[in-house]
Amino acid sequence: MAPAIALRGVAKRFPGYTALEDITLDIPAGRFLSIVGPSGCGKSTLLNMTAGLSRPSEGAIEIFGEELAGINRRASYMFQQEALLPWKTVRENIQLGLTFRGREGRAAAEQAAAWIHRVGLDGFAASYPYQLSGGMRKRVSMAQCWIVEPEMVLMDEPFAALDVHTRLRMQSEILALWTGSGKTVVFVTHDLEEAISLSDEVVVLSAGPASGMIGRYAVDLPRPRPLIDIKTEPRFVELYRAIWSDLRGEVLKSYERNRA
Ligand SMILES: Nc1ncnc2c1ncn2[C@@H]1O[C@H](COP(=O)(O)OP(=O)(O)OP(=O)(O)O)[C@@H](O)[C@H]1O
Ligand SMILES: [Mg+2]
Repeated sequence: MAPAIALRGVAKRFPGYTALEDITLDIPAGRFLSIVGPSGCGKSTLLNMTAGLSRPSEGAIEIFGEELAGINRRASYMFQQEALLPWKTVRENIQLGLTFRGREGRAAAEQAAAWIHRVGLDGFAASYPYQLSGGMRKRVSMAQCWIVEPEMVLMDEPFAALDVHTRLRMQSEILALWTGSGKTVVFVTHDLEEAISLSDEVVVLSAGPASGMIGRYAVDLPRPRPLIDIKTEPRFVELYRAIWSDLRGEVLKSYERNRA
């Protein structure tokens, strides 16, 4: 079977700046893959191209063996920046994806209600985004993404702005949604601990300009994973050390370049 996502020699150049160079990566269907790398290395750029919102300057992206030429309709995208519509309620925001696909009426409303429940927002269906906490807004975004039953979910630092406890809950929730779903997840994060805890595989990007893939690590921790305790397990620590030895240098480089 063709991989869910295949990047083939992908480069991305902006006027006067090469963000990514020669990225080649197969992501099999059903895999939970994380991308880590220093700020500005091109993680969001890579997701934007996979979502079909921008085109590679070189190379190609294939989705289940077919070259991506427009929007990737088999993917849902949870943006790095918040993307809820402030003038719509929680229920309306969650139902949006269905509405766009022409699914309205009672079945759609019932589905939205089920998702409101699933993400723990019972009692907030009629609230507006400004009436919710940051964690609750992230839950709305998650439901928005998953309600349309996409084959792949692209998530860009979804939990970066949350406090450590809310974050742990959201991480558990995302694993619960993904487990057994067969969906492919590409998860971008700055946080190596988060990447290891959640993923089957972690990909490390180098500091820009012209970032490339410098490492690919299989995470062989058993599932289901008790996230609250996983960070002290010997295998976790071993993986962390190995990946950090790659990532550390890139973070320092990026820090030096930004200072220069
Ligand atoms: N539309 C654009 N025009 C010009 N340069 C861009 C554009 N989009 C991104 N870049 C540049 O490409 C590089 C990669 O940006 P990108 O947003 O993908 O980084 P990132 O890894 O997601 O960073 P962060 O971790 O801070 O979110 C940056 O140097 C950025 O300034
Ligand atoms: Mg980004």
